[in-house]
Amino acid sequence: MIDTNPDSAAATQQEISAEIAAIETGYQRTGIEETQPRLEYAPYRSSLLRHPTKDLHHADPEGVELWTPCFSERDVNPLEADLTIQHAGEPIGERMVVTGRVVDGDGRPVRRQLVEIWQANAGGRYIHKRDRHPSAIDPNFTGVGRCLTDGDGRYRFTTIKPGPYPWKNHRNAWRPAHIHFSLFGTEFTQRMVTQMYFPGDPLFALDPIYQSITDQKARDRLVASYDHEVTTHEWATGYRWDIVLTGGARTPVETAGGDRR
Ligand SMILES: [Fe+2]
Repeated sequence: MIDTNPDSAAATQQEISAEIAAIETGYQRTGIEETQPRLEYAPYRSSLLRHPTKDLHHADPEGVELWTPCFSERDVNPLEADLTIQHAGEPIGERMVVTGRVVDGDGRPVRRQLVEIWQANAGGRYIHKRDRHPSAIDPNFTGVGRCLTDGDGRYRFTTIKPGPYPWKNHRNAWRPAHIHFSLFGTEFTQRMVTQMYFPGDPLFALDPIYQSITDQKARDRLVASYDHEVTTHEWATGYRWDIVLTGGARTPVETAGGDRR
């Protein structure tokens, strides 16, 4: 996405990390739990210019709910959940399965709802025209897939583990490996766009997008678990990630300030 701050490239990782640490200390002092990313989070430079500055208007929830799109098996081919079979050859990288349940705030399955993902390839490169960093495009990997949840709210994708990639927030800025998720849910209020991360990523501490969620418990809700039960013999590693669309344990979402990187 566009780097909206011309000075941002001048900041070093050390400076950004110091800002992150100062905000973290301030957050710990308040003792008030936050469960979602901050709209304005200075270390994430472009967030400063891209979030609502006025209070939201209340809408009639019944009217809003009617707008929810409805998808069926006729709209989504089951093969679209496999990102490794979209081209003539096999993509390069670690083949893996990502699966989990989509539930509402009461733990009820959100059934037959659309889940879409997009991601970089194993080298951290997006197909997107504006991604010009020197890492190879994989001709056998587009990085886009979708599926419907089943009767138990479960989704399942076969894909390639994405690599970390550089971005222009500051000098030597790198995003932790992640997969973007979009979910519609059954009501408009459940609509969610977010990112799933991988356990133990060394870039977590350095990444202003991940750190814009100030609470560790909320951050943890964006990190998948390695699951050997999902891993398949001589074929793919397996990760499990559950998504909560509503309620106090709601999975943190990207807001108007997020840039979908
Ligand atoms: Fe991304």
